[in-house]
Amino acid sequence: MQIHKGDQLFQEALKYFISGVGAAGRFFPTIGRPLFLERADGAYLFDIDGNQYIDYHSSSGATFLGYNNPEIKQAMQQALDMGYFCNYETEYHVKLAELLCASVPCAEKVRFANSGTEATLGAIRLARGVTGRKKIIKFEGHFHGMHEMAWFNCHTTLSEPNEYGEIPCIPDSAGIPEEIASMVIVLPSNEPDIFRSCMKRHQGEIAAVIMEPVMYNAGCVLPKQEFVQAVREETEHAGTVLIFDEVLSGFRMCLGGGQEYLGVTPDLATLAKALGGSGVPIAALVGKEWVMNGLNPVGKVVMSGTYTGHILEVLGSLKAVEIMRSPGFYDHLNQLADRLYSGLSDLLQRYRIKAVIQGVGARFAIYFGLEHTPIYDYRQVVRHFDFDMNQRFLRKAFEKYLYIHDYGNKLSPTHHGFTSAHTLEDINETLTRCEDIFKLISD
Ligand SMILES: Cc1ncc(COP(=O)(O)O)c(C=O)c1O
Repeated sequence: MQIHKGDQLFQEALKYFISGVGAAGRFFPTIGRPLFLERADGAYLFDIDGNQYIDYHSSSGATFLGYNNPEIKQAMQQALDMGYFCNYETEYHVKLAELLCASVPCAEKVRFANSGTEATLGAIRLARGVTGRKKIIKFEGHFHGMHEMAWFNCHTTLSEPNEYGEIPCIPDSAGIPEEIASMVIVLPSNEPDIFRSCMKRHQGEIAAVIMEPVMYNAGCVLPKQEFVQAVREETEHAGTVLIFDEVLSGFRMCLGGGQEYLGVTPDLATLAKALGGSGVPIAALVGKEWVMNGLNPVGKVVMSGTYTGHILEVLGSLKAVEIMRSPGFYDHLNQLADRLYSGLSDLLQRYRIKAVIQGVGARFAIYFGLEHTPIYDYRQVVRHFDFDMNQRFLRKAFEKYLYIHDYGNKLSPTHHGFTSAHTLEDINETLTRCEDIFKLISD
């Protein structure tokens, strides 16, 4: 494998970027530097050393329809021809909003944003504005973007819950004032009784409950139906806004995302990543009219932005949603998911590797150190996750030209995923390479 040019460019990048990367998440600890790309196409990445990888990162889930998607490219070309403006509305904005309302169960109204972080920030502000309350509940291990309002207890070490099961609120970044933590209650997910009693104890205080419907940010921890049902019932009863953060789960397993998958409709949902289809940088806050009416200029909660609903993004996303709505789209994804997840599970068993696969739709995790599925318990993941074995696997995968990105989190595995541009041949080829890797690392 040639890596010389990448190594050289890294030395140059170190002069100008912290750790040689423009964003921390792009540092790939497995190789001690980022992968420097020349181009990307379909299911493949091509680095500047001429290596071709089958990709299982898909831009952290943003390239759901594969790289260089020709239809999305054509849609964005139309935007270029129109003058690639921002901060104006067009008929395409209306059409995209209409399709979102037809696709996502809770979506009665739509507001665009630029990123998942911005969408969850807007959702929490809106919930506070509409309810006139300050506190929010979030769950341990769930991630909602890099803003002060909810960036707690995602990748921090576990700490002892108090007598009520509430977990001390610990920021995931330096620079987050503790005054903000005083407005956030952190609970374990999948514990309906703890949730119910917390809502009772804080009656009249909770503006919002925010959660990932599928906990992809701890790999792929599943939600328990009775837990999600309890969250819906209690929030409805308390006049608390239920926010599903569908930045990763949106469109991932079915058109309606996590809320359709679970059969539970929240009040608000945040969408990003797959919404842009092929890495187009768009996000949206969608939700029920009674909450969304709190947004200005009708309501008093401000959520706006110069670049939101940029025509490039809107036309790209409109094409993406049309593609995802086309017949057979999810049949193809499900076929790939079944083959990949069952194939990997069989191989892990055959080579007696202590690991399990858990996936929902086009995203999954490999849990080295765990032995049983289904996995519902985040703390069990943290206690048993074998980080060293995970690193060994990822290193070998990279050498076999499989790009399986990892953020270096020691508590839980990174979520991985494939795109609709992957073919059954890509998956079979991946399984062949993984078999070689498992043979090597099983000794
Ligand atoms: C569930 C969830 N919410 C929010 C975000 C933040 O999105 P962005 O990176 O677009 O700001 C992410 C990003 O991975 C996410 O997974």
